[in-house]
This record gives sequence, structure tokens and C-alpha cells, in this order.
Amino acid sequence: MPVVTESDVRSALSRVLDPEIRKPITELGMVKSVALSDDASVDIEIYLTTAGCPMRTEITDRVTKAVADVSGIGAIRVELDVMNDEQRTELRKSLRGDSAEPVIPFAQPGSLTRVYAVASGKGGVGKSSVTVNLAAAMAARGLSVGVLDADIYGHSVPRMLGTDAKPTQVERMIMPPQSHDVKLISIAQFTQGNTPVVWRGPMLHRALQQFLADVFWGDLDVLLLDLPPGTGDVAISVAQLIPGAEILVVTTPQQAAAEVAERAGAIALQTRQRIVGVVENMSWMELPDGTRMEVFGSGGGQAVSDRLTKAVGAKVPLLGQIPLEQAVREGGDEGVPIVLSAPDSPAGTALREVAEKLSVRSRGLAGMSLGIDTTRHL
Ligand SMILES: Nc1ncnc2c1ncn2[C@@H]1O[C@H](COP(=O)(O)OP(=O)(O)OP(=O)(O)O)[C@@H](O)[C@H]1O
Ligand SMILES: [Mg+2]
Repeated sequence: MPVVTESDVRSALSRVLDPEIRKPITELGMVKSVALSDDASVDIEIYLTTAGCPMRTEITDRVTKAVADVSGIGAIRVELDVMNDEQRTELRKSLRGDSAEPVIPFAQPGSLTRVYAVASGKGGVGKSSVTVNLAAAMAARGLSVGVLDADIYGHSVPRMLGTDAKPTQVERMIMPPQSHDVKLISIAQFTQGNTPVVWRGPMLHRALQQFLADVFWGDLDVLLLDLPPGTGDVAISVAQLIPGAEILVVTTPQQAAAEVAERAGAIALQTRQRIVGVVENMSWMELPDGTRMEVFGSGGGQAVSDRLTKAVGAKVPLLGQIPLEQAVREGGDEGVPIVLSAPDSPAGTALREVAEKLSVRSRGLAGMSLGIDTTRHL
């Protein structure tokens, strides 16, 4: 029978991630004590960040499971305690530094998070559907992904990701709920029921700023912003708050939609943001005999891509064409994006291909400090 040591137990605990913060509980100061008895049974005390922590059973389960893997271990007893104010303050400092005012991590030089703002001119072209599907597909590829529902009036992302969970708060940090491995913040999580939000520009700006700075997103590979339709206040706020955000334009094949989409893209010229590409949605409907019915006409996505390429003087590619499929709408209504429920369907495949293109691109290093002294070799 192998002899179990406390360090075996602690090393097992270092593999337990806090479900919300997603870091090892050992690094977060959450392990209060480990007491091993002669019969190899162990008593473990864990600090929760807050008393009402909704993750109580989840954490207990994760701890028990991880420690059960230690060979030779006996009975495992887990007790929960709650951090005091001082410990919580320490935790916050260790997570996001000592600054008094929260900063937007994605706007800091050297941030490695790629931020894509999903925009369109016309409403209803599928921005939110594209956003949640790209997010779920990227998360399924193993990336750490967040979605910020920046459509304050017309928020629809929580439903499409199938969660009405509310964020929890640790100190002054808002912990975003997760669904399908995607972290999500939406104004819908802060309002009662379906109450409409009636805000003016400055309040929208402030809300967006808070969502970016006060939410503890952790180390994200990708943050997707679902913008409201049009070229309004929110798009300008995004440009001010995260100048490095890149615009992803969604349009339909319809020429009228294309013209408006081009205007939405052209705003990037004024704000000096990069346009990462165009996604054409609702491109065609595949009929049972295999033919394609072009419900909204054709050529809109290519037209926007061509015109934006000309306008910005750099290639703005058409990243994909997503067919019109009943399952896309159903997935949205049921909260399971089609890239997960039917990944090999035509729309699922097309969306996953766009997600792949956006995942593998490395972030442009233009304007970024590389921390390398290039003068040394001169
Ligand atoms: N490829 C598709 N096939 C079938 N239905 C789709 C597709 N894309 C989007 N839809 C449906 O079209 C409707 C509008 O889509 P969505 O809400 O994503 O658009 P939006 O651009 O975000 O709208 P808004 O401008 O109101 O924010 C939704 O009901 C959605 O389920
Ligand atoms: Mg929308």
C-alpha cells in the first residue's frame, strides 16, 4: 500500500480549477487546510469566495474527485468555509493587480486577446446567431472565449447560448456565467425579466466600459462583441474603449443589405479599426433535391468584401457563406448553437470554417511593444 503524503493531496488539489475564476484553487488561496490521518483518510477545508457561492457543490465535487485519484487515499471529507474581506481583497489584487480603478485588460498594450466586434448595418441579418456560433465553435476548439452582448436594447445572446444564469460578484469583480464553455455578459443578466432598457448614449458607453473593465474575463484568447445594428453610439464606444478591436461585418446576399453593411464597415475607416472580414449569412436554402434557392438574392457578401477592400486599401476577405437553415434558428431558440448540435450540417460546417479562420490568425503585432531591444544587434 503506497504511503500517502500531504503533498500528494496538495498536488491533486492544484489540478482543481475554481469553476468561475478558472484558476487552480491552490493559487487562489482557497485551500484552508489539509489534514491527513493515519488511516489515509483526509479532511480538507476549502474557502469559498462568497457565502452565497452558487458553486458549492461543484467545488466539493471537483475536490473530492481530484483527491480520489491519489493512490492509496482513504475517506475524503470536504468542509467549506468563506473568505473574509481581507482574503477577498488579496484575491482581487492577485487577480487583477492593485490598481484602484479597474482597467480594460483588452486595451492594454501587449494584450493577446483578439477582440472581434460583430457589426452589420441592417438589423436581423444574423449578427447574434453568427456571434454565438463562432464563440461556441472556438471554445470547442479549445480556445478561451468570451461574448459581450453589446446590444443593450436588443440583447439576445443569453437565450441563444441557453443560459439565464446571473453573474456572481467577488469583491468588485463580476464573474461571468458560462455556457457551452463560453463566458457571457449581457445587460439581460442585470434586468428583471424582459424589461426594456431605455438608455441614452453616455449610459451605454458607461455600461460597456463596466462590462469590459469590471468583469473578470480571465485570460481570453478571443472576445466577441455582439453589436446592435447600425453605425450608432455603441460602435463608436467600442472603438474608443478597445481601439484594437477588429470589425467582423455580417450581411445577407441582398444588395440593399450590402450597401448598409458597407457603411457599417466604413465606420472603421474613421475609427482606424481593422476590418477582419465579411460573413454572408442566409446565403441560400438547400432544397431536398440539392439545388440552392437564393431567397435573398446573391452576391451581397462578395460585394461588401470588394467595396471595403477598395475603401480601406487592404484585403477584406469574404470569410464564409452561411446557408439559411431551419436548425440555425431552432438552435438559437433552444440555446444550443448549431455548431454544437449539428456541426456537420451545411450551416454548422460553414460557421466552423469561419471560426477556424478567425482562431488561427495570430494577432497583428503592429503597434505592439514586443519587449525586444532591436538596437542590440546593430
Ligand atoms: N443562417 C440562418 N438560417 C436560419 N435562420 C437564421 C440564420 N441566421 C439567423 N437566423 C434567424 O434569423 C433571426 C435573426 O437573427 P439574429 O437575431 O442573429 O440577427 P441579428 O442581426 O443579431 O438581429 P438584430 O439586428 O435584431 O440584433 C433569428 O430568428 C435567427 O434565428
Ligand atoms: Mg442581435
